[in-house]
Amino acid sequence: MEDYTAFKWFLICMVFFSGVQFIQCSVTYDRKALIINGQRRILFSGSIHYPRSTPQMWKGLIQKAKDGGLDVIDTYVFWNLHEPYPGNYNFQGQYDLVHFIKLIHEAGLYVHLRIGPYVCAEWNFGGFPVWLKYIPGISFRTDNEPFKAQMQRFTEKIVQMMKNEMLFESQGGPIIISQIENEYGAESKAFGQAGQAYMTWAAKLALGMGTGVPWVMCKEDDAPDPVINTCNNFYCDYFSPNKPNKPTMWTEAWSGWYTEFGGPIHRRPVEDLAFAVARFIQKGGSFVNYYMYHGGTNFGRTSGGPFTTTSYDYDAPIDEYGLIRQPKYGHLNELHKAIKLCEPALISADPTITTWGKYAKAYVFASKSGHCAAFLSNYNLDSYATVTFNEMHYHLPPWSISILPDCKNVIFNTAKVGIEATRVNMSPSNVKLVSWETFNENMPSSDGETKITVGGLLDQLNVTRDYSDYLWYMTSVDISPSESFLHGGKYLTLTVKSAGHGLHVFINGHLSGSIFGNAKNTRFTFQGQVNMHAGKNSISLLSIAVGLPYNGPHFEKWNTGILGPVVLNGLDQGKKDLSSQRWSYQIGLKGESMNIMSQTENSQVYWREATEQKQQPLTWYKAGFNTPIGGEPLALDMSSMGKGQIWINGQNIGRYYTIFAKGNCTSCSYSGTYRPHKCEFGCDQPTQQWYHVPRSWLNPTQNQLVVFEETGGDPFKISLLKRSIVSGRTD
Ligand code: GAL
Repeated sequence: MEDYTAFKWFLICMVFFSGVQFIQCSVTYDRKALIINGQRRILFSGSIHYPRSTPQMWKGLIQKAKDGGLDVIDTYVFWNLHEPYPGNYNFQGQYDLVHFIKLIHEAGLYVHLRIGPYVCAEWNFGGFPVWLKYIPGISFRTDNEPFKAQMQRFTEKIVQMMKNEMLFESQGGPIIISQIENEYGAESKAFGQAGQAYMTWAAKLALGMGTGVPWVMCKEDDAPDPVINTCNNFYCDYFSPNKPNKPTMWTEAWSGWYTEFGGPIHRRPVEDLAFAVARFIQKGGSFVNYYMYHGGTNFGRTSGGPFTTTSYDYDAPIDEYGLIRQPKYGHLNELHKAIKLCEPALISADPTITTWGKYAKAYVFASKSGHCAAFLSNYNLDSYATVTFNEMHYHLPPWSISILPDCKNVIFNTAKVGIEATRVNMSPSNVKLVSWETFNENMPSSDGETKITVGGLLDQLNVTRDYSDYLWYMTSVDISPSESFLHGGKYLTLTVKSAGHGLHVFINGHLSGSIFGNAKNTRFTFQGQVNMHAGKNSISLLSIAVGLPYNGPHFEKWNTGILGPVVLNGLDQGKKDLSSQRWSYQIGLKGESMNIMSQTENSQVYWREATEQKQQPLTWYKAGFNTPIGGEPLALDMSSMGKGQIWINGQNIGRYYTIFAKGNCTSCSYSGTYRPHKCEFGCDQPTQQWYHVPRSWLNPTQNQLVVFEETGGDPFKISLLKRSIVSGRTD
């Protein structure tokens, strides 16, 4: 047991810093906590990813985080946004990382900068630019020179940018810690020696940059000193760092879970989240980051998956639209206040543990200087525990922890929620979408002007390099007039084997069928009857990517698109394998190449007035609208549509997909170990119905909505809604 004295930190950290200069580290650590300017700190942090909201929302989100009792905001750095082409950087607007960090600083909060640059995050390609995959000889996240060179270049660029802006705490800025890599432990093991060598190299790279603040590696038990290995999970009280002189840190306390198209919404009861946090703190944990505190939106084509939804709401304390979610936000705020009252005892003493029977325990932190804080826990799933502690009786609810900052009075219990619940109200905006126009995406043909014609089937990503979700695969077959299927009785079927993620089959320009994989299984085989006539028949296959994979060993090697075989069955000869014949390819849609979604008039685009809805596949729609008055966040209700993408004033809102959620929505108890399938909501409803339209993307009048619909839907039923929060439960 030790009492902490402010002098102990009197440690001069000799690091080379922007040239040859010695600086004094103002953030260090010991076994109890991070030490900022001489003080051990119990810190609450929350993940808010800057590109998942708009710069106009940042200040408000940061303020809400502060008011919710956070000390730190954590963000990943998204390489593929910042370097869309090699050496071509973008740090503007929504990608203005420096501005985001400065706003956090202005609010008086700290930053945890998770550079990665691999980030996972349900983000397209785990944050890697797709061009990276095509560097000769590259292999991601392992001991591979081309990869390491690129990772080093980008990581150093980010660190230098932060240094130039004086953003590290050692320079007077807000960044108190940084992360290199992300959950590398499993890969490190899978890759054996190469994994270990890469991980050690990554740690060295990080330490060599002389930021003057500690580095962490999450879920990497072998993180070399002085890098701190940290925990990510629903609970982390089982976790201890790999050296006794490192603090116990939880870099991802999952506040809810992400959603996949076709799946239900996951919620995590706040009673359980608070219980998990209190369990971690009573075990000696000193840093908790909620992943996510504000999840936000996967705008454009930033969501990974495949099939991660455009909404990244995450059931976080601040909802997708930036509104406070109660009781989650308020109950956690109360928890933070209670734990902060215990801070003097927590940072200066180790707990003594008393056990009552099988389920009840007390963790008591009593310091030499007289501070005392106690955590009384009951792990029983359904019964109260009555315990006597310091000659007082305490009645502990099931699956809960009571917090006593003076070792006497319970000021907080994780299972007793005193905050009123709220629910979401989506009300009509009373703004009409007017002047509907439509444009049919021209079906390319194998004879037309296409970019590439080769023998055989190509991997989709290799052709598109992800500049579009769409790739046309086109070929033709000659049918002899003597084929017996033409004379009745028999029919032709087409079989198309695809590595994903979706497929529309057109025969002679007519939609013959569609098929989609899902998040669990992106691969599928299309099998369907097809109509062909004597002579030449065109086969046009539109292959659709729905977000690239973002995790798993060598996720970059996963294939996408139609790899075959493609086989015609039912001919007199039996089967005809079309896989290795000549195929033509067109990257993207005609509308995309004409930039049809932008507001600048393009004379090539023949918009026609849209009068009635015709369930036409591959159709663009356009409408105008004025901005609804008021300040409420806005959303489009897309439930009348099938699948596609939405743009407003040229900005990509994201992918939409009206697919009904399968799941088990029968019950949700806060007590018992949480897993996402335990509390599912929204079964048999569209997984995502509403799509966030940031107000800052709108003009007061004459906004332009453009929708690309792949299969068919009723655009006249699309409506603009206002989101607000009203009292009452959501479930
Ligand atoms: C973690 C990962 C995060 C995110 C999370 C799930 O394993 O580090 O980036 O993917 O899972 O939301």
